[in-house]
Amino acid sequence: MSDDGITFRNPTVEDGGAIWRIVKESGVLDLNSSYMYLLLCKDFGDSCVIAEHEGRAVGFVTGYRPPGRPEAAFLWQVGVDSAMRGHGLGKRLLGAFLRSPGNRGATRLETTISPDNDASRALFRAVARDLGAEVKVEPCFTAAHFPEAGHEDEELFLIGPFDAETPNKLPY
Ligand SMILES: CC(C)(COP(=O)(O)OP(=O)(O)OC[C@H]1O[C@@H](n2cnc3c(N)ncnc32)[C@H](O)[C@@H]1OP(=O)(O)O)[C@@H](O)C(=O)NCCC(=O)NCCS
Repeated sequence: MSDDGITFRNPTVEDGGAIWRIVKESGVLDLNSSYMYLLLCKDFGDSCVIAEHEGRAVGFVTGYRPPGRPEAAFLWQVGVDSAMRGHGLGKRLLGAFLRSPGNRGATRLETTISPDNDASRALFRAVARDLGAEVKVEPCFTAAHFPEAGHEDEELFLIGPFDAETPNKLPY
């Protein structure tokens, strides 16, 4: 456990509901079905992370290893309790994500981010800087791909390549 009492671990099915709740409360993240979060925890828990403080979930990362791209670790959603943002928890979650057993050996971090999500863009650029890795931004999903009105574009961030050992050397 760190000095501030925050712990990081891979989630189990028991954590799926708490992750769903953080997403719901974020007001920013796409809220998927609770079933989806349970399934992720069940089958992709070794590439997801939950952060806890005094027994309460205060942050999470979901992601997976894309079949056919073993060099990549794809981060799907990251969320930090609104009261705890801006104190480095997002970076610590990304570090724990990259070091998770399911992401071992990955040399590129991938995610998609909407153009107006300044906090998320800053988080991934900060981690890229600390990994000493380049950031390439490419179009991915455009608003037209989404069947519902009002969904923003999602740009693909490709962070890498980095040495597979570099995540172990991050200061967080
Ligand atoms: C994105 C999010 C996870 C960041 O978590 P966080 O704990 O606040 O991030 P950190 O404190 O670790 O900050 C990481 C870096 O981003 C910067 N940053 C964080 N929030 C920022 C903001 N609102 N504007 C500009 N920069 C910001 C920090 O200064 C830091 O950079 P540094 O290392 O150069 O100092 C958090 O804002 C969140 O949960 N947002 C809602 C959900 C969301 O948008 N998720 C991303 C889409 S999947």
